[in-house]
Amino acid sequence: MPHTPHRRHFLALSALGAGTWFWTAPTAAARRIAGANERIGVAIMGLSRGLHLARTFARQADAVVLTLCDVDRRRLEQGVAELNKLTGRTVTAVVDCRKIMEDKAVDAVVVATCNHWHALASIWACQAGKQVYVEKPCSHTPQEGEWMVAVARRYQRCVQMGNQRRSWPVIREAIAALHQGAIGRVYQAQAWYLSRRGSIGRGQTTAVPGWLDYELWQGPAPRRPFRSNVVHYNWHWFWHWGNGELGNNGIHTIDLCRWGLRVHYPLQVTSSGGRFHYQDDQETPDTHTVALLYPEGKQIIWHGYSCNPLPGLQAPDVLFTGEKGTLAIRGGSYTIYELDGKIRQQVKGETSDTIHVRNFLDGIRQKQPLTSDIEEAHKSTLACHLGNIAQRVGRTLRCNPSNGHILNDPQAQQLWSREYAPGWEPKGV
Ligand SMILES: NC(=O)c1ccc[n+]([C@@H]2O[C@H](COP(=O)([O-])OP(=O)(O)OC[C@H]3O[C@@H](n4cnc5c(N)ncnc54)[C@H](O)[C@@H]3O)[C@@H](O)[C@H]2O)c1
Repeated sequence: MPHTPHRRHFLALSALGAGTWFWTAPTAAARRIAGANERIGVAIMGLSRGLHLARTFARQADAVVLTLCDVDRRRLEQGVAELNKLTGRTVTAVVDCRKIMEDKAVDAVVVATCNHWHALASIWACQAGKQVYVEKPCSHTPQEGEWMVAVARRYQRCVQMGNQRRSWPVIREAIAALHQGAIGRVYQAQAWYLSRRGSIGRGQTTAVPGWLDYELWQGPAPRRPFRSNVVHYNWHWFWHWGNGELGNNGIHTIDLCRWGLRVHYPLQVTSSGGRFHYQDDQETPDTHTVALLYPEGKQIIWHGYSCNPLPGLQAPDVLFTGEKGTLAIRGGSYTIYELDGKIRQQVKGETSDTIHVRNFLDGIRQKQPLTSDIEEAHKSTLACHLGNIAQRVGRTLRCNPSNGHILNDPQAQQLWSREYAPGWEPKGV
């Protein structure tokens, strides 16, 4: 049975200035693990995105998938059958993730559940001495993101968010080029998300299907009757469980915008949009524009089109505007344009989840820093939360640029955190 000894104090990080983390020399425990070539025992929660990640972890020579967890028994059985076949091992199946937290053989937990579970599962995992790979958005509310950073630091855990673009080599090269002045002073970043989603229709309150443990699916969220058009995936479009398209896909590119601009917390956040394309149960916008103003005259604008991919327009994923040119990111590639429109440089790159998973495993072994450590992940997720809060209250937010906290707006400030189902509140945060 693989076992990582001495998880506590496994990782030593020290903060030196805003948003910058430097690694201390590997601890004795970390050197022993690398030397002993022990495999990192992984447990995975949520088997849609999580099953894809399970396959990726299972293919890494230095990791072993020990446990799969889902509250949907069909997905759990299918996932375990597939992983058993892929690995030639017997993977443990669990419905209740608290069993994972108690299992000493598990070194790392992958949280790929619905968003309302991300923080609680990550906090429990850190408190149990485990490393965490948590899908984006890392939290469901700003408060949860702050708790996650605090808990990761207190327990000295590696907590990586699943915004895989942070690890793609050509994207890293593009951001480094920006930081080295490739387009001069960069003052604006825009991002687009384009899709062709259908309507979620009108659901009804129905009996909970026999394959689902709905009590565990709801977990920390206050109880609501089961509705026919929420599980699976459509929970993204209800504020009670999801964060809309901004938290679902906006987070990927807003993170690149923030990274490229080297900004942390906004001064002002404006939102405009709505459920314009379809009239159905969806609460979150399908057409959404958010503008975030940061200190030093820098701006991020996100355009979300969930139901019309603007065919023919060829919008990039991200476009940086600078004094001497523009830099566009599409997929894993980038192009630098001169101010007169001539292409100066074009670099093609791959898109890959594996490299981000490798970074997480190498981060645990202290071979390299995490590319998306929870503190940076929180700042980008917070930008999305603030955009959604501005949308929900219907006015511009003013924020404290040292921590992103909302100023002078009690109604908006209420959305900084959420109510929890009794007994499910995160503890020790
Ligand atoms: N990084 C990426 O590119 C990427 C891609 C897709 C999804 N995601 C993220 O992954 C997460 C899941 O998305 P999805 O599309 O797979 O959603 P989904 O609704 O299809 O799947 C979520 C799964 O989690 C399970 N689940 C819910 N509560 C659970 C619990 N307490 N314990 C165990 N399992 C539980 C559900 O039963 C379901 O099988 C989301 O946060 C999403 O943003 C990231």
